[in-house]
Amino acid sequence: MGKAELTRRTMLAGMGGSVAATFAATGIAAAAEDSVHDSRAQDLLRRMTTEEKLGQLQQLTWNGDTGPGGGQNAEVERRARDGRLGSVLNIYGAANTNALQRIAVEESRLGIPLIFGFDIIHGFWTTFPIPLAQAASFDPAVAVSDAAVSAKEGRSNGVHWTFAPMMDVTREPRWGRIAEGSGEDPYLAARFAAEKTRGYQGSDLAAADRVAACAKHFVAYGGAEGGRDYNTVDVSESRLRNLYLPPFQAAVAAGAATVMASFNTVSGVPGHGNAHTLTEILKRQWRFGGFVVGDYTGVREMIKHGFAEDDADAARLALNAGVDMEMVSTTLSDHGRELLAAGRINPRRLDDAVARVLRLKFRLGLFDRPYVDEKAEIPGPADPARAASRAAGARSMVLLKNDRAVLPLRRPFGSIAVVGPFADSPDLHGTWAGPGKKFPAVTVLQGVRAAAGQAVVRHARGVDPEGKDGSGIGEAVAAARASDVTVVVVGEPSNFSGEAKSRSDIGLPGVQPELIRAIARTGKPFAVVLVNGRPLSIGGWLDAAPAVLEAWHPGIEGGNAIADVLFGAVNPGGKLPVSFPRAAGQLPIHYNHENTGRPYDPNDPYSSYYLDLPNGPQFPFGHGLSYTTFDVGAPALGRDRVSVRELRGGGTVEVRVPVTNTGDRDGDEVVQLYLHDRVASIVQPVRKLRGFQRVTLRAGERAEVRFALTGEDFGFWTNRPEGEFVIEPGAVDLYVGNNSEGGHKVTVTLT
Ligand code: BGC
Repeated sequence: MGKAELTRRTMLAGMGGSVAATFAATGIAAAAEDSVHDSRAQDLLRRMTTEEKLGQLQQLTWNGDTGPGGGQNAEVERRARDGRLGSVLNIYGAANTNALQRIAVEESRLGIPLIFGFDIIHGFWTTFPIPLAQAASFDPAVAVSDAAVSAKEGRSNGVHWTFAPMMDVTREPRWGRIAEGSGEDPYLAARFAAEKTRGYQGSDLAAADRVAACAKHFVAYGGAEGGRDYNTVDVSESRLRNLYLPPFQAAVAAGAATVMASFNTVSGVPGHGNAHTLTEILKRQWRFGGFVVGDYTGVREMIKHGFAEDDADAARLALNAGVDMEMVSTTLSDHGRELLAAGRINPRRLDDAVARVLRLKFRLGLFDRPYVDEKAEIPGPADPARAASRAAGARSMVLLKNDRAVLPLRRPFGSIAVVGPFADSPDLHGTWAGPGKKFPAVTVLQGVRAAAGQAVVRHARGVDPEGKDGSGIGEAVAAARASDVTVVVVGEPSNFSGEAKSRSDIGLPGVQPELIRAIARTGKPFAVVLVNGRPLSIGGWLDAAPAVLEAWHPGIEGGNAIADVLFGAVNPGGKLPVSFPRAAGQLPIHYNHENTGRPYDPNDPYSSYYLDLPNGPQFPFGHGLSYTTFDVGAPALGRDRVSVRELRGGGTVEVRVPVTNTGDRDGDEVVQLYLHDRVASIVQPVRKLRGFQRVTLRAGERAEVRFALTGEDFGFWTNRPEGEFVIEPGAVDLYVGNNSEGGHKVTVTLT
């Protein structure tokens, strides 16, 4: 049995019986449907000219929102009419997309419809919390709610395809794109990637409320050196397969229609010219039948990388490596004909790429219904969508600290001050707000006012998000002094995270820390609310603040969601999907590191540590408090010995974990299960997450959480380039608890 098969089987086992059965059944139905699409695609392919084939592999951007016009748009229209265009990105609106589609369908020779792509990353009209926040919910249903709303709003506006989910595992909070993914853990990221993919696509891509997904960026983009966007990544085969690939494999197994190549190099080879990752792993080993789209001008950028000589060479390298559609640069449509004539690209490979694109167009139903119903266009965020975003926002928040139970704010109180640069700021959408930006987000002040009942609510901005001017701090202090309790809302503007938004200092920008310290000096109770797109280093002021709520960039209903948590309507239950460092100088810092030969030992000056910082993060992966307390008890094992053979054959080890709400409020806990393979042929992480479950328990209630560990959980990928997944005999420690440190330990022996 091949490794890929083993992985696929064990993944199904890990999903639990009924889900696995549904998935398998959908798989069979999908395969039958696929062959119909494929024969229609092949039939069309036989009638296409070389120009038309190359055209299907070209995607261009639409630069206007107002309908067909001049400039780039005229070029887009011209190509659509000539049948030399496969896809357009950045166009939306039922009337706009229909107008352009009409040109392709009614004026081109073969009438092949265009596919319209758009970055719907965390909401179209209705912005949801950023993906990093969603991961903090440790509840993939949160991502599904975003995906379902996004797909419905997007498709009604003529968008067929979203460039999401982004699933780049990263250990780099300096990297602004950390906001777009699920953080530092491959298992958590894989669970979210699979569920979000299903959430976008549903069971029928032709449905009026579904869009095709795009697993991006393939691959290892999150490994950017120094956390600087687009930067070099040099990675071993084992790290590639154990750290960066799992979310993609999960998304492909969940049926992701497309995959996007990444801008970075992978060990010297650009993502767009990487036959090993695109063809060998993705298309051969995983049998991915969808298409690979390049990233924005990424094909041509291989010239600047120093990998391709010129445009023609870039086109050749990209197509041969496995890119099927070129985004924005036009090397393939410009040079494809001459490359074919010179035998530098293979006509069968060209046909394969075109067939992949056409098949998706058939699956989306575009040949049968190329136009979207203009009367059914969703014009903005509807109430149920807002409610879903609000719930997602609150569910994603992480209570980092809560000394003296400052939170929740208890009624009755006479007055509350809401201060800080983000107290009354609508800049809560987050990095990829897209068209939804035109609807201002609910501010924290608005949310608090709506929730505060009779209380007097005071407000002062205090300081700007950036800049050095502290002259407004006095006013904020006065508001705090006059009030019973204060909420200080600080953080990063949305445009501090996302693409090309790397920072070297990941503290609160400007003089915001001074504002916090000044409020602390009033001696009155207060809580800090953080709104940001990355982990921040907050050690400089953390001791001064009794309570800190990490709210991330929470989306359009942000202020209401924050008020829900501040006042206790929602008891926070999120956990950090990424470590919070003490200082940027510790980076990369992540819980799933390997041991050195000299792990930190306070009594050994020649062990691994920094002279000027304690080892370990400020807050570890998986950390998050609640307004109640929980006890995660010692786990019981179904068995403590299992043979490798059994695991390979689908055997499992059951782990049962008791969890009790020991406080006086209902609340959520995330039970987490980590593994450590003590001795292995490739050094293993000190811990790796292999199970989690968020449970809601009434005050005093006890429950049991069950995990079934499979061969996939116990094994790992080696460095063999062809891909080798091994499960080795020996002792494996399991830890269960409510973060990545401490917890109860039991050992399973693999024989
Ligand atoms: C980003 C992608 C995005 C694409 C289209 C690129 O710059 O890297 O994530 O999907 O643009 O907007």
